[in-house]
Parts: sequence; C-alpha cells; structure tokens
Amino acid sequence: MKLLITGGAGFMGSNFIHHILEKYPDYSVINLDKLTYSGNLDNLKDLEGNSRYRFVEGDICDATLINSLTVDVDVIVNYAAETHVDRSILAPLDFVRTDVMGTQTLLEAVRKNKVKKMVQISTDEVFGSIEDGKFTEESPFEPNSPYAASKAGGDLLCRAYHVTYDVPVIVTHSCNFFGPYHYPEKFIPLAITNLLTGKKVPVYGDGNQVREWIYTKDHCSAVDATLHKGKIGEVYNISTEDERKNIDVIQLLLQILGKDESSIEYVTDRPGHDRRYAIDSSKLRNDLGWDPEYKFEDALVKTVTWFQNNESWWKKIIETTDYQAYFKKQYPTL
Ligand code: TYD
Repeated sequence: MKLLITGGAGFMGSNFIHHILEKYPDYSVINLDKLTYSGNLDNLKDLEGNSRYRFVEGDICDATLINSLTVDVDVIVNYAAETHVDRSILAPLDFVRTDVMGTQTLLEAVRKNKVKKMVQISTDEVFGSIEDGKFTEESPFEPNSPYAASKAGGDLLCRAYHVTYDVPVIVTHSCNFFGPYHYPEKFIPLAITNLLTGKKVPVYGDGNQVREWIYTKDHCSAVDATLHKGKIGEVYNISTEDERKNIDVIQLLLQILGKDESSIEYVTDRPGHDRRYAIDSSKLRNDLGWDPEYKFEDALVKTVTWFQNNESWWKKIIETTDYQAYFKKQYPTL
C-alpha cells in the first residue's frame, strides 16, 4: 500500500509514519508537510535513507502539488492541521485556510484521482463542551474555538464529498493525545518541559476542566484500525474514556518529577475555554475491535522519561521558536 500522510512532520503524523513503516514492511509513505512552526524533521531523522519513505515539503492547499502527489497513492491520511486552541484565538484565519480549505483540496484530489480511501484526523472539540454524558458520532457540532470550528468545517466537507460525490472518506474524532515528540506548547509537554527547567506550570482558571487523554501508540493503532477495517463514509470516535481534571494531571506530573505545589501557577482562564470533553468510542471498539493498551499513569511516566532523555529535541524548539507567543501576550507579567 502506498500512503500519502500529510502533516507527517508534526507530533501525531510522525508517530503514525513510524507505526506504519514498522508494522507493514511492504508499505511506502510519502510525507507531505509544510514545515510550519510545529513541523520538525528531527522527528523522522531515523528514516533518512529509508527507501520506503519520501519527504515532500508543501502545503495541502496547493492543488497542483496535491494533484501530482495523489496520482498513484492508495490512501491519504490527513494529519495536516493547525491545532492549538490558543493560537487560533490569536490568528483564526490560518486555521480556516489549512483545516477547511486544505481538507477540501485533498478531497478534490481523492475525487479526481480515484484515491481508494482518505482518513481525516479530527478532534472531539468539534462537539463542544458537555456537562454530563458523552458525545457520540451522531452528536451535533457545537464548536467553541476558532480551531474547533475550522476542524468542524473540514469534517463537514468530508461528509458532503462522500454524500455528493461518493468520495471514500472516513472521519475520526479523537480525545487529547500525548507522548513522544509532542510540541511543547500543549498542556502536558509544556508542563513537563517547564518542570524540567525549574519553571512553574500555568494552570488556566481553576484547573477543573476535564479531558480524556490517549497515548500516541494507542492513537496510532486506532487510526490503523479505521484505515484497514473502517467503513467508508463512517465516523469513528477515538477515546480512552479515561477522564482527568487538568489539575489532577499536573499533580501526577509533580509526583513523577518529585516537585511540589509551589510549581503551580493559576492564571487567567482561556477565553471560551471548554469545561469538559467526553466521547463515546464504543463504535470503534465494537465494530473494529480496537482497544487502548496503555494506562494513563504508565504512559505519562513513559512520556516524562522520553522528554528527560531527549532534552536536545525540545530545548532546540524552546530556544528557536515562539511557541509561547500566546502565553506571553496573554500573561505579560509572568
Ligand atoms: P491543550 O493541550 O491546549 O488542549 P485542548 O485545549 O485542545 O484540550 O490544553 C489541555 C487543557 O489544559 C485545556 O483545558 C487547557 C489547559 N491548559 C492549561 O491549563 N495551561 C496551559 O498552559 C495549557 C497550554 C493548557
């Protein structure tokens, strides 16, 4: 099988490329990535010289490029996206461009070049916040951030292209993920890298917001299941259904790293901050036989260890990029 994986130099895309090349010796991958601030070829250094892997620098909005790359691929897995809520509050247009228009460009290429399947990687955030119960695949979209709205736009285009043009697409909505190569602007890697450098962890609002967390390897196996066994035109929620309050995640990290509560800094809440995400993943489990393997606590220890052992990877990012731009703007005195 020949795959085009977009956004493959990012956190989840690079983990998935490793997963595919390790698990399927006869598969080959083209990695298309725009190398924005979060795209990092260091994530794929070990693949240099691998005859089953090719990197192309480019934008999913570039229809000519996408058209030429998809002439003879079997499958597209679309990881390319602007994903950080805080950045979407500062610069929403970048999100609309990549997450909506980029997805449409890919769908058009699938249609024209008769690609056999496209898997759209998306988020639980499209459903908005839920006080009790869980969102299912049928729940209406009620996005609250420009990020969530732009992902919802892309996902709706997937649906429309399937219904209107019979384009073979599957959409996945995942809970929050974490693990190796996670860009250190997101909550867990930001907390780990701050604690490792003697800084405090900024906790938005009261820290009682609830998220479900999935380890990278479990997310890869879930996408693998949808890619190989998923039904065309269907939507699958990906989730561990293991809910954690932000503050409890931080307490665990403090424990793992031998720190105390003085490393916590409560800061002004994010505007429009969703209180709780919770999705029902029984369709993926029952229909495709998927189950997560990793317990949250164990995976968190693995992740901390990875950051401890790969200091040069994240220190280079911290020193050379503006990943805390939002934070500096929002909290100039901290
Ligand atoms: P994040 O990793 O940005 O993912 P998302 O907002 O898409 O769920 O944030 C996870 C949670 O952590 C979210 O409730 C916001 C909160 N958070 C903080 O409390 N402090 C931080 O510095 C960051 C980045 C996030």
